[in-house]
Amino acid sequence: MRIVALLSSAVLALTSLTAASQTSAAAKAPTRTPQAPRQVVAQTPPMGWNSWNFFFEKVTDQDIRNAADQLVASGMKDAGYVYVNIDDTWEGQRDADGVLHSNAKFPDMKALADYVHSKGLKIGIYSSPGPKTCAGYEGSLDHEAQDAQLYADWGIDYLKYDLCSYIPVMETKAPNDKATQMRQMAAAYAKMDKALKATGRPIVFSFCQYGWDAVWEWAPSVGGNLWRTTGDITPNWDRIYAIASQQAGLESYAGPGHWNDPDMLEVGNGKLSLAENRSHFSLWAMLAAPLLAGNDLPNMKPEIKAILTNRDVIAIDQDKLGKQASRVYTEGEVDVWKRPLSGGAVAVAVINAGDSRYSTHPFHLSLAKLGLHGPQNGKDLWTGKTIKLHDGQPLELARHDVLLVRFDAPK
Ligand code: GLA
Repeated sequence: MRIVALLSSAVLALTSLTAASQTSAAAKAPTRTPQAPRQVVAQTPPMGWNSWNFFFEKVTDQDIRNAADQLVASGMKDAGYVYVNIDDTWEGQRDADGVLHSNAKFPDMKALADYVHSKGLKIGIYSSPGPKTCAGYEGSLDHEAQDAQLYADWGIDYLKYDLCSYIPVMETKAPNDKATQMRQMAAAYAKMDKALKATGRPIVFSFCQYGWDAVWEWAPSVGGNLWRTTGDITPNWDRIYAIASQQAGLESYAGPGHWNDPDMLEVGNGKLSLAENRSHFSLWAMLAAPLLAGNDLPNMKPEIKAILTNRDVIAIDQDKLGKQASRVYTEGEVDVWKRPLSGGAVAVAVINAGDSRYSTHPFHLSLAKLGLHGPQNGKDLWTGKTIKLHDGQPLELARHDVLLVRFDAPK
């Protein structure tokens, strides 16, 4: 009784205090200077296109304009792809005042940004905390604030910041002392974060330092909206599968505003089979990965467009709960991933990294291991059809193919 009485008088006191502060806040309100809204970016994994995986160092202003045009014409923009990101090799020289200019391939960055924005899209750029980028172009070392302001003046919405030549800088500053080198690396990212924030422009900050020093543990505290977790991707199944496998266990680090980045998409590149393209895209969606296409948009085949614009799969990636999938179990060359979705829904991906499993020796899916009880009705997101699964369900899976299912009402 006594405790209840004490508690209720405390609540009363608190209520009158709150009321008093509300009254005085209301009285003061008209004289307050309106505050700028807090800038929030990457609440779902960023989606768009990046120049590197197809054009590499050959990319030009015209390629970027074409990509923007094609994002619109292909329906990709409507499906959610909004960032058009220029990767390495746009950079020219600094002038006497240290102002960086673009090179001859990019005659007018402001005009290019305006063009991309006129399509209802956003534009991204690339630099390094070191003196040079990976391709040997000008980096931002000692020009961080100047470069950040330049990007903001051009209207840039996204920065990929690639460690590269900062590695020798770290090694020179702290020879044979890896721990100090790692702290310097984090400080270099923090420095650019501060510079970007000082511009007042909302700019997505993408870390590219290949996952060093468990970047997922510290990137959010120094402004990272996404961070590469591995070395570079290539349009090759073994590499894509190896990268996906290395995401297992990182799921607790991803969430709205801060994402693990298993690198940009290779869908439509190289000699990937349709099954491999489907599996790659499904895995990235399950992993709540940024979906940055990297293919030749003007020459995209219809079957590749169908993969990249599959709305059901994109909805998994962009699910507002922002929970990354966990790899629940592996049996030989088959992996089973599960992702919790908003509204209590669940997505399950069964990936066959090996050769085809026929009806003679199919894969048997354990729903019990997935925490699902009894027969389930879901939607097969690649056929669009309803699929009924029971515990121990035999599945035929083609080589490197995927079964991706969404359960809206899992039991
Ligand atoms: C590194 C990055 C790639 C790409 C190139 C550009 O290798 O990891 O994604 O940006 O640099 O030089």
